[in-house]
Amino acid sequence: MGTAQAGQTDTEQVVFPPPPSFSEQAGVCSMQQYQQMWDDAADDPEGFWGRLAKEELYWFHPFDKVLEWNEPYAKWFTEGKTNVSYNCLDVHLDSWRKNKAALIWEGEPGDTRTLTYAQLHREVCKFSNVLKALGVEQGDVVSIYMPMVPELAIALLACARIGAIHSVVFGGFSSEAIAERNNDASAKILLTADTGWRRGSQLPLKETVDKALEKSPTVEKCIVYRRTGSEVNMVAGRDLWWHDLMESASPDCPAEPLESETPLFILYTSGSTGKPKGIKHTTAGYNLYAKMTSRWVFDLKDTDVYWCTADIGWITGHSYIVYGPLSNGVTAVMYEGAPNWPDESRFWDIVDRHQVTIFYTAPTAIRAFIKWGDQHVEKHDLSSLRLLGTVGEPINPAAWMWYHEKIGKRRCPIVDTWWQTETGGIMMSPLPGATPTKPGSCTRPLPGIIPQIVDEKGNELGTGQQGILVITKPWPGMLRGIWGDDDRYKQQYWSTIAHNYLAGDNAMCDADGYYWIYGRLDDVLNVAGHRLSTTEVESALVSHPSVAEAAVVGRPDDVKGEAVAAFVTLSSGDANEDLRKQLKQHVRQQIGAHAQPDDVRFAALLPKTRSGKIMRRLLRDIAAGKETIGDTTTLEDYSVLASLRSDEE
Ligand code: WT7
Repeated sequence: MGTAQAGQTDTEQVVFPPPPSFSEQAGVCSMQQYQQMWDDAADDPEGFWGRLAKEELYWFHPFDKVLEWNEPYAKWFTEGKTNVSYNCLDVHLDSWRKNKAALIWEGEPGDTRTLTYAQLHREVCKFSNVLKALGVEQGDVVSIYMPMVPELAIALLACARIGAIHSVVFGGFSSEAIAERNNDASAKILLTADTGWRRGSQLPLKETVDKALEKSPTVEKCIVYRRTGSEVNMVAGRDLWWHDLMESASPDCPAEPLESETPLFILYTSGSTGKPKGIKHTTAGYNLYAKMTSRWVFDLKDTDVYWCTADIGWITGHSYIVYGPLSNGVTAVMYEGAPNWPDESRFWDIVDRHQVTIFYTAPTAIRAFIKWGDQHVEKHDLSSLRLLGTVGEPINPAAWMWYHEKIGKRRCPIVDTWWQTETGGIMMSPLPGATPTKPGSCTRPLPGIIPQIVDEKGNELGTGQQGILVITKPWPGMLRGIWGDDDRYKQQYWSTIAHNYLAGDNAMCDADGYYWIYGRLDDVLNVAGHRLSTTEVESALVSHPSVAEAAVVGRPDDVKGEAVAAFVTLSSGDANEDLRKQLKQHVRQQIGAHAQPDDVRFAALLPKTRSGKIMRRLLRDIAAGKETIGDTTTLEDYSVLASLRSDEE
């Protein structure tokens, strides 16, 4: 490996060793130390995880076995009893951390709140009692559709405290999507807020929930947090105000000792079919994995002010705003609103005012910062920062370099973290005090993680060869299944490559053992760091009365990574601008704003092979404006191609 050289143009060849001043103070301070940990875990995974579980989690009752692996079902730390809420809160109350800031929250309008560990614990206990008083018991599902306010974190921890299972639905999803998730999980309670702030205007959360509840027969009560004070419709007997319930709630609620495999949460993610998958995570293994990966990857210290900009509606927020950081007793920043409100310097203003030391965001956000211009960054003092991170999609080397230079001022290591909703926590990432980084690579697997690149037959591929990324051994943070669908769990993750977990990504391992992720192998898009199923968008389009058939593909986008391009044939109506708008709006209503197609193109027919399969590769090329290459002799109708090309927006 070479080291960074001025003037070098091929950034993929550049290597950035950790700054010595960073390594000196880091928890893992050298590649030898990393390698030792990785080897220990690989040689004796049960010994490795068992030791950590004993040291790092509080046990009401000790576990007797580290792992029961009945492929593809894992049980970690069986017979043990612990509680995630206890591990995030109570464990800190007997130490000086009791009065340390757990959450520093900032609302979009500029209001701020700080909750110490003791204060957060008190709120969580009270809300646990609120849930209990409404009849919520262990195993009940609580659906959560809330803005990024402390009460969202409080809700998660309160569920965890009593063994209720939370299912957070990101605040951008539509009423249809909320109802679908409520029904799939048989949710009993729904938590929401009146409205939420977004770029100075208000998101009608309660109104959206009202529509969802018309189609959610299992939901008995809806608890509404008053965020903005906007007037909302409250249905007598069903809807209750958060503050009314909290007023009389007791702050005394001991954490329930829960068996290690007690479900902790469900989080829906898109798969290659139209139906979202309820990814199931459980108590002890997830807790340990979120805790250890947070500490290793972010080199957490008691002096840190750690900020992950994700929304708690996605897995990143679950693991790296709530469970990981709080288990480690760190101070975490939580921000409610948009990065460009009131202007494009908002994030840097937050870093400056709260003296943020660790900043974790998505490549799509970085590309937006680049587009907005350096002047927004330069207005603020970023010298508190010591470590930067990215997640959600491959980071292009140019964005990596900008992040390194303009935000990190060439001082801060960058951790490019590869993982998934299913993996529970980070799987591959540099350890910032140890691993030399290469822009665009998530570098090496974390201890206990054994990836492999294989071909379709499962044969391991050599250095530099692109192939299918699998994980060969179970790990504590792994998903335990798809809610209510064991067949899909086996089919999706464990049947393509026998005895291996299929990540669904296309990847390569280079001569230094560094992994490079090239994107999905299936028809799943990555739009602004979020997974979106093409089939789901297609189903939404086809549910519109004017649409006969739809095909959705991704096209490269400078900021979002991938944009959504839809090709539509009509059964009625005219292929005009008005219908184009209607169709975009329709997808927004069916799924949510993030799924709205960027392009809608009308066609008389969709290009298909003789066997009737839509030629997606061709559509991708057309969407990207590239000349079509390759064999198109099986095209059903050559004229289709010409008509699609000419219908540019
Ligand atoms: C998919 C998982 C994990 C939290 C956010 C997304 C892609 C994620 C990286 C990265 C390249 C990445 C993969 C993965 N991805 N992180 N650092 N480099 N690709 O979670 O919605 O479950 O999506 O995001 O394609 O499979 P998710």
